[in-house]
Amino acid sequence: MHLRDIRSKFLHFFTTKGHVAIRSSSLIPVGDASVLLTTAGMQQFKPYFLGERDVEADLKSRKLTSVQKCFRTSDITEVGDATHLTFFEMLGNFSVGDYFKKEVIDLAWEFCTKVVYLHSDRLWATYYHAETTRGKKNLGIPSDTESVKYWQAHLPKERIAGFGHDENFWGPPGKTGPCGPSTELHYDRTGKPCDLGAKCLPNCDCGRFVEIWNLVLMQYQKTETGEYQELPQKNIDTGMGLERLAMVLQDKQSVFQTEAFTHIIETIQQDERFDSTGEVLEDERRLRIASDHFKAAMFLRADEVRFSNKEQGYILRRVFRRACDQYLHPGCTFEPVIDAIIHEYGEAYPELKEKRAAILEDFQKEYGNYEKVRMMDIGKLVKQLPKEDILSQQEVQQGVSKIHITGKAAVQLFTTYGSTFDQLKQKGFTFDDAEVEAELDKHRATSRAGATAKFGGHGLNSATLTDDERAVMTRMHTATHLLHQALRDVLGPEVHQDGSDINPERLRFDFTYPEKLSADEILKVETIVNGKIAEDLPVTMQEMPLKEAQASGALAFFKEKYPDPVKVYSVGDYSKEFCGGPHVQHTGELGSFKIISEKSVSAGIRRIKATVGK
Ligand code: ALA
Repeated sequence: MHLRDIRSKFLHFFTTKGHVAIRSSSLIPVGDASVLLTTAGMQQFKPYFLGERDVEADLKSRKLTSVQKCFRTSDITEVGDATHLTFFEMLGNFSVGDYFKKEVIDLAWEFCTKVVYLHSDRLWATYYHAETTRGKKNLGIPSDTESVKYWQAHLPKERIAGFGHDENFWGPPGKTGPCGPSTELHYDRTGKPCDLGAKCLPNCDCGRFVEIWNLVLMQYQKTETGEYQELPQKNIDTGMGLERLAMVLQDKQSVFQTEAFTHIIETIQQDERFDSTGEVLEDERRLRIASDHFKAAMFLRADEVRFSNKEQGYILRRVFRRACDQYLHPGCTFEPVIDAIIHEYGEAYPELKEKRAAILEDFQKEYGNYEKVRMMDIGKLVKQLPKEDILSQQEVQQGVSKIHITGKAAVQLFTTYGSTFDQLKQKGFTFDDAEVEAELDKHRATSRAGATAKFGGHGLNSATLTDDERAVMTRMHTATHLLHQALRDVLGPEVHQDGSDINPERLRFDFTYPEKLSADEILKVETIVNGKIAEDLPVTMQEMPLKEAQASGALAFFKEKYPDPVKVYSVGDYSKEFCGGPHVQHTGELGSFKIISEKSVSAGIRRIKATVGK
């Protein structure tokens, strides 16, 4: 059964059972800061599960179904095995305070055995078994014996197995949100236990079983303090991996042998740039990673994620560059692989076709930037690292070193230069992969902007920025100096800088001032800055002894430690500041200046966000 038929049979089955079919939402969750990307079908229905919105008023039903685009970074290092992917489609049915355990189990069984005709004697079920759970994760939630009873209407009890929290409790995605015990369907691919004999059960890592459908009995909400509170209503949230179901239905050994990948892999293979000199098996893995990651990057870009050093843009950069590591050589074009992906997915996801040109342009540009990073040698990179992060260093042959570094340092090199972890290894670095993933988790949880800032001013020296991004940030930087002086002109000389941050979308300037700015004051500041832009003032730099600079009356940011001698940037005669640069040469390059927002950040400190435009 082709992917297209599975999707439509699934939606059709559930609509005949009274569900309303809802389109996949974007990979970027709307109005939900708890996660960066959509990882499950339930994401777009979260406010209904939590009772924050009325599902019947909005969607005219308490029973919903969808085929959702999903993206998971948690499985990125496992991509290449038979079943893990970063981008995949999730088939789901949902009940918002309508049906519960019995109905969801009966529906799942009916779909599997009467609609897609999976062999019923190969199906197994798992359920939440609290006693299996030890230590901290024992949540005080009782074993789900009810589900066992309902499964027994379909399955012999030998094929119903209990597991603890790690396997049979789902969610929340992010720190807080709806969650609950789950009951899963697994498919027995071989019918033969491994060496473990009777202990070879679902979740065994021998490859015998594949988990196909997760039925979450969503009864709890995890709070900020880590408690599990009962939700006002009992919900159902299910998710079945489309690619895994196709693999089982088509009797394939891996998801990569289904049409979700075959054409894409063939296209890459036929590409003469693919380096096929390695081991056959190793090449197979590389093909799998490249095809999964290119597809994932395309879907992200089609949902308007841009390559950057932050948040979703950072994930896009990571998967794209990792895909490039697998086989590309300089001077390549991405057209064949993009078209192969559109060929398979363009009908179900027309955004891929609509954004084809933009995707192609961005991929080419990002690859160009990445090439520069790939050329950088290990010696230059290692100089950027703090000594304590270099754990050992040895010369393996003349001029070739192996340098063992901390996971933190590997992540630092990735965020600063955009060098993928595979690239770092190829250059001769070694580090602990688990440590890197833990560090990335921390990194994901905090803003990514701070990490690059360590390496210079506003992160402008970061090699991961595109030339366009760097140019726009340079303009913003000069605008920040003009804004600082204009605020002092309008509000008085008590105004001092309290912080500053720039990214390609906006500048942010914090300053001391006791009250909210009036609309008139904001307009005055804007008008002054735009006036200075119109004057096209020259921007000049002078390096001078610190004392002399201080005596010159140049503005300084007291939280910063300045070197001696120090650089002082002047914009005409209008502004003079201690600063490391870089800046534009003439203010006319800024085009125009606009304040986007003004608000309080803490007592006595205001924040302005503004932007420049050509
Ligand atoms: N939300 C559940 C999952 O992602 C169904 O597995």
